[in-house]
Amino acid sequence: MKLLVCGGAGFIGSNFVRQRLREHGDGVVVLDKLTYAGREESLQDVHDEPGFAFLRGGIEDADRVAEALADCDAIVNFAAETHVDRSISEPDAFITTNGRGTYVLLEAARDRGLRHVQVSTDEVYGSIEEGTFTEDSPLRPSSPYSASKAGADLLVSSYFHTFGLEALICRGSNNYGPFQYPEKLVPLMILNALAGDPLPVYGDGMNVRNWIHVEDFCRAVGTVLERGEPGAVYNAGGPDECANLQVVRRILELCGRDEALIELVPDRLGHDRRYSLSSDRVRALGWEPRTRFDDGLQDTVRWYRDNGWWWEPIRSGEYRAYYERQYGRALRD
Ligand code: NAD
Ligand code: TYD
Repeated sequence: MKLLVCGGAGFIGSNFVRQRLREHGDGVVVLDKLTYAGREESLQDVHDEPGFAFLRGGIEDADRVAEALADCDAIVNFAAETHVDRSISEPDAFITTNGRGTYVLLEAARDRGLRHVQVSTDEVYGSIEEGTFTEDSPLRPSSPYSASKAGADLLVSSYFHTFGLEALICRGSNNYGPFQYPEKLVPLMILNALAGDPLPVYGDGMNVRNWIHVEDFCRAVGTVLERGEPGAVYNAGGPDECANLQVVRRILELCGRDEALIELVPDRLGHDRRYSLSSDRVRALGWEPRTRFDDGLQDTVRWYRDNGWWWEPIRSGEYRAYYERQYGRALRD
């Protein structure tokens, strides 16, 4: 199969590309705008593999999408603006990429009769105090990020119902693992702990997330691509839930640092308390998560410790200005 992987230079997309090239023998064309979150370095080790091609461009650009799609059999769309805090301070790009970009891809898939897998998030369901969300739970997004993802999901479903497009949606819970941009909780806390910087925890630190290792999520997306029912939504949640403070304490322990580095900071606006996904539908297709959170977290700390070449340029670039705006303090040199 030859896949168009949109957003393949991002965190989850780059892990997916590696998995499809190496474990499935697929051909892969990556279309990525290379925003602050997209990095060709994340694909450096597969760049010269046969069957791999890279094109820089936005999914909202119909001409570039047409060029990228030549000879592809299916689209897997990871391309998105993804950070909740940025969606609160600068929502504009979320509407263009997550909304209009998805529309442009759906039109291209419809023209060519291609299968389209939309990668989405548990955040479209909003927060849940107790129990777990199924695919039939109502969509109640809370942030501009999750609202733009929910809007995109509804558009994807409409292309199945109205035009018969082979469109599917895979909603993941919070991913962690190698190549994640350090604005997100796990890599941010690892890098601050390694540097001896304070670890900024929002509110009371008791918000709960359902953690899934990125390789498990990529296998779920692959399962949906290969065996999912057109028109269906599939949730893929990780095996463990954990409060933020517990995650941060464990990272400090793994980095050999003291809990005194934890700093409780003002809460995120509209902060969802808890996410939890039931994954029975994708499990029925034969998928299950392989990595428990504590094991995956140990591997992830090791990966960041060993791969300064990947994250050092980030800590000295655009990210520094973002960090100062977000946390009101400078990063250590
Ligand atoms: P990321 O921010 O690391 O990567 C996003 C990628 O999309 C980057 O390479 C970026 O350059 C690219 N991109 C952004 N705008 C683009 C555009 N207009 N055209 C083409 N490329 C563009 O994100 P991620 O964490 O890898 O998330 C990937 C997908 O998975 C997203 O759709 C996200 O909503 C979803 N998701 C993420 C998580 C998570 O925990 N990270 C969980 C569930 C679902
Ligand atoms: P994040 O990684 O941004 O993912 P999401 O908001 O999409 O779940 O945040 C995960 C949790 O960690 C969330 O409850 C917010 C919290 N958090 C902090 O406490 N401090 C931080 O600096 C960041 C980035 C997140």
